[in-house]
Amino acid sequence: MEVIIYPDAREASVAACDRIQALVAAKPDAVLALPTGNTPRAMYAELAKRVAQGELDLGRVQIFMLDEFVGLPHDHEQSYHTFAQREIVGPLNLRPEQVRVLDGTASDLPRMCAAYEEAIAAAGGIDLCVLGIGQDGHIAFNEPSSSLASRTRVKALTPATIKEQARAFGEAQAVPRHVVTMGVATILEAKRIILLAFGRSKALVVAKAVEGPITAFVPASALQMHPAVTAMLDPEASEDLRLQEYYQLIAALTPNET
Ligand code: PGA
Repeated sequence: MEVIIYPDAREASVAACDRIQALVAAKPDAVLALPTGNTPRAMYAELAKRVAQGELDLGRVQIFMLDEFVGLPHDHEQSYHTFAQREIVGPLNLRPEQVRVLDGTASDLPRMCAAYEEAIAAAGGIDLCVLGIGQDGHIAFNEPSSSLASRTRVKALTPATIKEQARAFGEAQAVPRHVVTMGVATILEAKRIILLAFGRSKALVVAKAVEGPITAFVPASALQMHPAVTAMLDPEASEDLRLQEYYQLIAALTPNET
């Protein structure tokens, strides 16, 4: 895994943007899988700035959001449909049909999940998947114990994630107990993956994901099986990495020296 420790979260977010911009320059109809949460907000803001300044045109990309809550109306303040509209569709000047979000209100959720997988395949597969990471090691909403061979499906949230989400929802009671999420195997089929993690609260789980054993107990550790993952970190999120010095050394070398 490529591990890059940036001076701060902003620079990491700009670097993630640079990678998206380079991909879209090479392939204007690229297929992206994108996350919600606080971590990617600076990246979306930077993308929006580049679109507004005419440096970046995302008019042909297709975006698949990673996950959604089950049972929340699409216009609910905390739904990921709302997040996608607010942070992505509007600011990046996209047509709504360019951004797909799993439908947590579908009457037949397994069928809806299968159709999502089919839509990803019909689009030609995911070129670049950007991920955040939960403190429990989830990527998308693949909670600990998720099969590392899982596809898009319904998952139950862990008590820890419900507690984390309670801040956004106002109280734990209001947090849906179930979600729909791209599976670990779905994510691992992306051609390239960027993992973003910022802040001290992510340090331990980043160390487990990057350097720990591969285990369903930390679904993000499955990323070690993928040949093209870049973890883009700030110094705080990298604090518990045992090979921190080595990653910094590699990053300081030119590509043909590594
Ligand atoms: P965060 O969430 O970006 O809000 O920290 C990440 C996640 O839970 O996947």
